[in-house]
Amino acid sequence: MILVGRLLWLFCSLTFIFISTCTYAKDIKDSCTTCKQITDNFSKEFERTKKQNFGGGNTAWEERALSKYETSEIRLVEIVENLCESSSFDCNHMVEEHEEHFETWWFKRQTEHPDLYKWFCIDTIKVCCPKGTFGPDCNGCIGGSERPCHGNGMCDGDGTRGGNGRCSCNHGYKGEFCLDCIDGYFDELRNDTFSLCSECHASCKTCTGITNEDCEECKTGWEEDDDGRCLDVNECSVDPSPCQTDEYCLNTDGSFSCKACDKVCSSCTDAGPEKCQSCATGYQDTEGTCTDVNECEQADVVCTEENQECVNNNGSYACICSQGYEEQEGVCVKLPPSGAGLSDDSWFSWLMPYLTSGHNQEIIEEEANTETRPEEHEDL
Ligand SMILES: *[C@@H]1O[C@H](CO)[C@@H](O)[C@H](O)[C@H]1NC(C)=O
Ligand SMILES: *[C@@H]1O[C@H](CO)[C@@H](O)[C@H](O)[C@H]1NC(C)=O
Ligand SMILES: *[C@@H]1O[C@H](CO)[C@@H](O)[C@H](O)[C@H]1NC(C)=O
Repeated sequence: MILVGRLLWLFCSLTFIFISTCTYAKDIKDSCTTCKQITDNFSKEFERTKKQNFGGGNTAWEERALSKYETSEIRLVEIVENLCESSSFDCNHMVEEHEEHFETWWFKRQTEHPDLYKWFCIDTIKVCCPKGTFGPDCNGCIGGSERPCHGNGMCDGDGTRGGNGRCSCNHGYKGEFCLDCIDGYFDELRNDTFSLCSECHASCKTCTGITNEDCEECKTGWEEDDDGRCLDVNECSVDPSPCQTDEYCLNTDGSFSCKACDKVCSSCTDAGPEKCQSCATGYQDTEGTCTDVNECEQADVVCTEENQECVNNNGSYACICSQGYEEQEGVCVKLPPSGAGLSDDSWFSWLMPYLTSGHNQEIIEEEANTETRPEEHEDL
């Protein structure tokens, strides 16, 4: 029990350390981003306030007043007030927390350290690092700060006090140093500090050059011929076809696909009604094309019930009741002559215009007369 308890405690502590480290690292990277935005906005505001309060031509008096404003606290306050959107908590928090630094820089450091970003974000509040460096001590990224990840990737935490400096390589590159090529790419140029990976020919899994003769290994769907080139395998040439019976096979570079036959075919060699090998039910071969069979004109009558008519359609036919008949439980029954035998709803709707007009009395009488009609209908 004690051992289990200790292990659990250890696990929890490790988890806690891990989570807090991650959160810390993320916060630090974000702080640097915020700081960068603040100093960028400082420069913008600095530009905007350049001629503030002094429009028009510059007289000698204005020149003096201007130079006074240029370095004044009033101007600083105006700049600092506009550094953040009011909704940006992180920005406002950072500016408030370090307000005195802006004053120090404004009055004492500006000439010596004109780059506010470097002075404020990197050297003073220490949330950023110079480009190509990372972490609490601004160590150089893998591959050096000049060309982090040898120019083929991104260094984690680059330019911030966070991150671990590991490279995430650009597409085509791999390895700790982003100097190796991934499968499907080859080294066009390579030395200890430099690597240029280019894409192999589509037929190669791995290669040493750009053509299909330079493959070390063919990709699946390709095979090496006698001259050592990788050529497309025609998957469709095999018997039986890799596709379903109602599909045709389409060979493509390195692969193949199965496409549905035209609906008039039950099997086919290609798209369209002329490429059927056999016709679908309801269709027949007429001079190499599958065409609809008109079942209604066949010698054997297909619609056999009384008062039925045959209607042909593509691939099939339908038996419908002739005009004046309607289908009831599978047989065609004669419709009552029009006007008689209407349903309750029908004769009621026929009444509607009268009910809403002035002839109420007559109608109610008529209504009484017609009340027996539903029963009459049932007798039919
Ligand atoms: C900097 O100013 C722009 C425009 O005024 C604003 O959109 C942006 O949010 C500001 N930066 C920060 C960190 O608030
Ligand atoms: C490596 O190759 C690059 C590009 O060709 C070249 O600029 C660099 O000087 C070479 N470095 C060494 C150490 O050979
Ligand atoms: C059958 O299909 C063709 C084209 O798909 C169409 O033009 C024709 O009208 C159809 N015929 C019937 C009877 O539905």
